Amino acid sequence: MTRLAIVTGTSSGIGRAVALRLLDHDWDVIGVARRDAAIRHARYRHLALDVGDLTALTATFERDVAPLVSDPARTRIGLVNNAAVIGRLRTVDATDAAALRTTYAVNVVAPVWLTGFVARHTPRTAALRILDVSSGAAIRPLPGLGEYAGTKAALRMMSMAAAADFQSAPLNGRMTRDAAVLSYSPGTVDTPMQVEARGQRPDDFPAQTWFQERHDTGGLHAPELPAAEIVEFLESAKALAFAERRFGE
Ligand SMILES: NC(=O)c1ccc[n+]([C@@H]2O[C@H](COP(=O)([O-])OP(=O)(O)OC[C@H]3O[C@@H](n4cnc5c(N)ncnc54)[C@H](OP(=O)(O)O)[C@@H]3O)[C@@H](O)[C@H]2O)c1
Repeated sequence: MTRLAIVTGTSSGIGRAVALRLLDHDWDVIGVARRDAAIRHARYRHLALDVGDLTALTATFERDVAPLVSDPARTRIGLVNNAAVIGRLRTVDATDAAALRTTYAVNVVAPVWLTGFVARHTPRTAALRILDVSSGAAIRPLPGLGEYAGTKAALRMMSMAAAADFQSAPLNGRMTRDAAVLSYSPGTVDTPMQVEARGQRPDDFPAQTWFQERHDTGGLHAPELPAAEIVEFLESAKALAFAERRFGE
């Protein structure tokens, strides 16, 4: 049994917890982040990459990762599109065009491209499980969080669109039929992303008080909890072509 997972954002938070759990479960793991993940394991390989640098991302994956994914001995490929930035936590009047483009590159373009990459390269005899990390912000607006929320709403629809593509006749004939996509909201998780949101001035970022209150009332959980649900999906024998789930449901 040779199972390979690609996990983005393994240097911190949820992504790191997912990589460690997958290694515990005997998966081969390719982790991606700009920083080192401080994971030393024979089955872990780290790619120090800025996923928003789309030229570097696509070249590195086609050159170094494609042969590992397309190995006919693979029985299962997992992709966890986890890396994201929270973006500029400002109201719309303070939009910075270049920052907005970077946020969309990291949070939307990279995960969608990676979805196509695994669809192309996964052996037709292997199972394919793709988990896109979503957020309550994808469906509920909070003031000052529009940049991030827009990317998560876009990713959520792209997850559904990819699943529809996988089932369409032409693509279905070219790729594994055992493919499933899960759009997954991890709940409110105790990671540096939450620290960044709480650290803003409410004058600049009106939703600061929402994040502060979640923290102060004990509403944050450890990254290991959503990581367990993520790994459970990657290992699922049967899965709907598309599903949407929130932590604990
Ligand atoms: N924490 C929450 O309450 C919460 C709630 C809902 C959804 N989420 C989602 O959960 C996922 C993980 O977030 P987290 O809370 O675990 O945050 P985190 O601790 O800040 O981790 C973010 C990860 O993404 C990586 N990353 C960011 N920009 C990158 C880039 N340009 N290139 C490569 N890697 C990059 C970071 O690595 P480097 O900085 O080393 O590159 C880091 O490993 C995100 O999709 C987030 O939107 C979190």
